[in-house]
Order: sequence, then structure tokens, then C-alpha cells
Amino acid sequence: MAAPRYKTLVDALAADIRAGRLTPGARLPTHRALAAREGIAVVTATRVYAELEAMGLVSREQGRGTFVRDIAVPAGHGIDQQAVATDAVDLNFNYPSLPGQADLLRQALREVATSGDLDSLLRYQPHRGRPQDRASIARHLQRRGITAHPDRVLIVNGAQQGLAVTVMARLRPGDVVAVDALTYPGFKVLAHAFHLDLAPVPVTADGPDLDALERLCATRPVRAIYTMPTLHNPLGWVMSAADRVRLIEIARRHGPLVIEDASYAYLVEDPPPPLAATAPDITVYVSGLSKSVATGLRVGFVVAPPSTVPSLERAIRATTWNTPALTTAIACRLLDDGTVDQLEARKRDDAKARQAVAGQELAGLPLVNHPSSYFTWLPLPDDARADRLTATLARRNISVSTAEPFSTATHTPQALRLALGSTDLDTLRSTLRTVRQVVVEDAST
Ligand SMILES: Cc1ncc(COP(=O)(O)O)c(C=O)c1O
Repeated sequence: MAAPRYKTLVDALAADIRAGRLTPGARLPTHRALAAREGIAVVTATRVYAELEAMGLVSREQGRGTFVRDIAVPAGHGIDQQAVATDAVDLNFNYPSLPGQADLLRQALREVATSGDLDSLLRYQPHRGRPQDRASIARHLQRRGITAHPDRVLIVNGAQQGLAVTVMARLRPGDVVAVDALTYPGFKVLAHAFHLDLAPVPVTADGPDLDALERLCATRPVRAIYTMPTLHNPLGWVMSAADRVRLIEIARRHGPLVIEDASYAYLVEDPPPPLAATAPDITVYVSGLSKSVATGLRVGFVVAPPSTVPSLERAIRATTWNTPALTTAIACRLLDDGTVDQLEARKRDDAKARQAVAGQELAGLPLVNHPSSYFTWLPLPDDARADRLTATLARRNISVSTAEPFSTATHTPQALRLALGSTDLDTLRSTLRTVRQVVVEDAST
């Protein structure tokens, strides 16, 4: 069912405000002018502004008009992250969204609202989620190569909480955890909070240096290996089947738990089997719907060895009791009706298109990435300073990340990590052109 015209207009204006295309403080057209411009009734224009006001995006001032509000902290920016100007182009964080996604959510909300037993969503749920919801997730995971009984599935508030409950349940302060020398910043934050001892494993173009991992496990009491075999963030690698087998062999020989983070795995067509499929008894698999559906939904899942499930369940109980039933119901509806599969396929294409644009605009620079990932790694010449470049880009209203948040080793490489998923394609193209210009100019000074 198509969304009413005014909803589409609300979505378009909201997207313009969030992306900074309509800057804070800008005066919007009068109701009458908006109606004339869009070919809608004045009463409909009034409704559009009322809805934007309810969303906190505009303010209406008596006798003066309607103004874009300053949304100081844009979506996706947390306490440990540098604030980004609202009108900056965000190549720092990824919150991939496709046109029309809000309509899918509207539809799912409507269906949940009219479904039979709404009352049950108002009550506490089992800590790891309702059996029928865990069964939906188990079916989804089957398509990712994991055959897991729903009893092994736990529903969490996003992959980040999945990692947190795994650490809470299975590790103690001071425990040594092997991580890639460049890894997902959220795991670093978690390790710091839980006083884990991160032991960096050097990275190669195709995956972690497994000889180094083997040596590490032989010389130190490694309690866990945190790894992203399918679409590593930030380097984009997909580990080969042989390397996966070797990693599991190392883990079996030395005993650490394997924590497999598959948050971006959906972007890879036909990857080798997940570690959790090969070694379900020693692997905790963590993923979620943030990158395939929406970051704000906060629905993730964990597949754990049966013996580990009760301790993980206790950690969920200690932190949140249960993942909100309402968001879980929406997520499972989208899983069951095939919407997630569709979104995953469309986002794979979208990411490929964005990666192609990056390849064109940054041609000649030594990019490290996967052809269908939403980010690219840009190593800089030895004498370049990533901090200086990010400052120059910030002055041009472009936000990017250095290697620092990703680095677990004492030596942090000079590099930029460019997120490609959070802006429209035209803006991405022109922004990458500017990035290239700034990097090339910096190298020649
Ligand atoms: C590798 C990786 N793991 C986990 C997460 C956290 O995802 P979620 O939003 O599901 O908590 C992210 C988010 O960027 C990520 O990149």
C-alpha cells in the first residue's frame, strides 16, 4: 500500500533536515507556499508541519513561521564519539538506509498494531526472547549458513549488547582477548569497560595473521578470540575457508572461546561457512539487524553453545531483562515476510554502487575494501598525518575517522576510514572528490 502523499513529503523534509540539506534555523515556506509548491491542500501542508514538529525537527513560532531546529547530536553519535556538525557530510558512521524504508516500518507497525495478542507485548518477556521470535531468527540464520535450534538463540538490543553480554558472562577482568590490530571500535570500548587485556594480532590483506595468533595463544593465556571473518570492519576482508579451519584448529588446541561478529556479513554473497557453523561448541555468534534494516531498531541476536546459554541469559536479565517486545515483534515480522531478505539484497547492490563511486573518485589511491561493503580504508603516505587531514576535512564540513578508534596496537597506522552508507550517492560522489583533493594536496605539501 502506497504511503499517503503527506507522509512522503514528511519523510522527504525529515531526510533533508537530518542530512543537513535544510540547515538549522532555516525558515521553511509558509503553509500556503508549501501547498502551492507541492500541489497539495493548505490543510495538508499544515499537517506536514505539525508532524515535523512532533518529530522535533521544526519549531513553529507564532507570527514568524516554521524553522528547522538544530539537532545537535545526529543519529548514531554516542558519548565516546566526536560530535559532528549537523550539516556536515557524514563519512564517519554508517547508518545505511534505502529510499522508502520508513514506509516499510510504517507498514510493519500497522500490522503489529492490528495483530491479535497485542497485550502480550506489554508484559515482561523471557530474557532471551519468546520462542516464536527465536524461531524466526533461527530460520533467518539458516540462510546465513547456521543451523541452530531456537534454544541456542538469544535476542539482544543490537550486536553491541550481544558482545557485552558475552563478555559479562564468559570473561573476567584481566582476561587476555586476542583481537585484530585494527578492529571494531565498539569492542575496544567494551574491553576497556570490563578491564580486559586486549592482545593485538597483526592484520594482513586477507585476515588476521594466523601464525601470530598461534604464537600468541602458545605464549599467553588467551581466553577469547574476537574476530570478524565475514566482512571485517574496517578492512573489509572475508577470510578464506582454509583460514577459518585453521583459526578453529588454533582455538581448539589452546582453548579460547571464539566470538564471531557477523554484523556486516549479510553484505557478502556466498561467503565460506561461518565459524559458528563449523565449531558451534566453542563459538558465540553475534549479529543483528542494524546494518541490514535500521540502526535505531536495536535488534540483534546471539547464537551460543548450549552450555553457555544460561550464563548469557543471566547477563541479559542483569542488564535489560528482555529486549523490548515491540521492536522484536516488528523485527520478526520483517524477517518472516521476507522484507529483511529483500533489504539485504538491495543493500548489497547499494553498497556495490557506492564502492564503485569510491573506486572512481579515489582512483589511484591505495584503497583497502570489499566490493560490496559500506566502507573503505584509505592508508596514507608515511609522512601524512591523519589528524591533520580530518581537521582539514572538518573545516570543509566532511566528517571522517582516523585509524585511532580502530587500533588496538601501540603503533596506529596513518589512515582514514570512510563510511559510504550514510549519504545520498550524488553527495557521496562530490564529497569523495573533495576528500581526494585534500589528500593529494596534503601529500604534495
Ligand atoms: C563490527 C560491528 N559489530 C557490532 C556493531 C554494533 O551493531 P549494533 O548496532 O547491532 O549494536 C557494529 C556497528 O557498527 C559493527 O560495525
